[in-house]
Amino acid sequence: MDKIIINGGKRLCGNVKISGSKNAALPILIATLLTDGKCVIDNVPELEDINTVVALLKHLGKKIKKEKNKITITGNGKLRTDAPYELVSKMRASVLVAGPLLARFKKAEIPLPGGCAIGIRPINIHLDGLAKLGAKHFVAGGNVKLAANKLKGTQIVLDFPSVGATENLLMTATVISGKTIIKNAAVEPEITDLANFLIKMGANIKGIGTKTLEIKGVKKLTGCSEGYKIIADRIETGTFIVASSITSGDIKISNAIFEHNESLIEKIKLAGMKISMANKFLRVKGSKKIKPVDAATQVYPGFATDLQPLWMALMSIASGESIITETIFENRLQAGVEFIKMGADIKIKGNTAIVKGIKNLTGAKVVASDLRAAAALILAGLSAKGRTEITGLEYLDRGYENIVGKLKKLGADIKRVIDN
Ligand code: UD1
Repeated sequence: MDKIIINGGKRLCGNVKISGSKNAALPILIATLLTDGKCVIDNVPELEDINTVVALLKHLGKKIKKEKNKITITGNGKLRTDAPYELVSKMRASVLVAGPLLARFKKAEIPLPGGCAIGIRPINIHLDGLAKLGAKHFVAGGNVKLAANKLKGTQIVLDFPSVGATENLLMTATVISGKTIIKNAAVEPEITDLANFLIKMGANIKGIGTKTLEIKGVKKLTGCSEGYKIIADRIETGTFIVASSITSGDIKISNAIFEHNESLIEKIKLAGMKISMANKFLRVKGSKKIKPVDAATQVYPGFATDLQPLWMALMSIASGESIITETIFENRLQAGVEFIKMGADIKIKGNTAIVKGIKNLTGAKVVASDLRAAAALILAGLSAKGRTEITGLEYLDRGYENIVGKLKKLGADIKRVIDN
C-alpha cells in the first residue's frame, strides 16, 4: 500500500503548469465511439481514470495508441455494446458509453455503477433522457440493458442539470434523426469542450455554453485526425490556487483558463490572498492571516463541489468561523472527519459544516475516501505542523497528473513511499 508522507510548514513558491482536464478528456475519448474515423486527442492527462477509459474503449473494439499526452483512436466499425463490470465499478463515468453505443447500434448493456463515498449517484436522469429519445431499458443481474427500434430527437427537460446526463444525451443526439433540444442542460466547461469536439467531427450543435442545447442529428460523424486539444483542468488549477493560499505561498500558475475558476478566485480574494494576472499566468500570493469565508457549492459557474474539501482545508486554519454548504453530493462533507484528526474544529450537520479556524493543523495519519478529499488532505498536510501520512492513494491516482512531482518542484517536503 502506497502512502504519501509530508513534513508540513513549507511555503510553496514557483511556477506550475496545469495539465489537461480529466473530466473533459473522459467524455471526449468516449465520444470517439460515435465514429469509425481516426481521432487524435491531445493534452490528455496521464492518470488512472484515463487508463480505465482506454481499457474500456479497447474492450469495446477500438484500437488505441497512447504517447504521453496524445491518444490516437481508430476503429473498423465493429464494436461490442457491453461495458464490463470491473471497469464501470472502477470509474462511474463509464456509463457515458451508453448513449454513443445506443445511437450507433441501438443497444447497450452497462452494469449499474452504484454509489460511492460522496453520494448515491443514481443514473435516472441519463435513463429518462434516453427513454425520451426512444430507448427502453430494464435492469437484470445488476446490469441495465438499453435497446431501441429507432431513436428520434425530441425536447428533453432535465430534472437537474447533471453533467454526465447532459454529456450522454448530447453525444446520443448528434447521430440520431431529427432535432433534440436539451433544456436545463449543465453548462460546465467540460460540456463545452465535448460539444466543440463533436462539432469538429461534424456534429450540428447550437447553444453551446447555455442551458439549452439544440442538436440536429447528422448521418455520420467523421473522425478528428487533425487533432483536438483538451482544455486545462479547472479543478487542478483550483487545487494549486488553494495550495498557495494554505501555505502562505507565492505560486504562478500557467496553462490554465482562469475564467473557469472565477467563483473560487472571488472567495480567495475575500479570504485575503493577493491575485494578479500577467502574461498568461495567475499569481496567487498567500497571506499570513486567512479570513473566514462561507461557501456553498453550486453548479457551474457557482462554487465547484470538487473544490469544497479543499476549501474546508483552507478554512480550518482561518481566523474565525465559516460555514460550508454542500448542495450537489450528499456525503461530500465527510472529508472533514479526517481534518478533525489533524486538530481541525469542524462540526458537520446534514449538508452544512461549521468550521472554526484554528492557528494551525498538526500532522496525523489520515485516509483519503475520494479523489478530491485526497487532494484536500495533501493541502492540509502541507500547511500542518509536523508529519502527515496519507493512504487511500488509489483515489488520488485517478485524477491528478504528477501531483507529488509538481508540489515538490514548488518546495514541498513530500514523498510517496511503498509501505509493506
Ligand atoms: C461530474 C464530474 C464530477 C463533479 C460533478 C458535479 C466527471 C467525470 N465528473 O460528475 O467530478 O463533481 O460532475 O460537477 O465529469 N444525479 C442524479 N441522477 C442522475 C445523474 C445525477 O440524481 O441521473 C445527481 C447526482 O447524484 C449528484 C448530482 O445529480 O447529486 C450531480 O451529478 P452530475 O452532475 O451528474 O455529476 P457527474 O456527471 O456524476
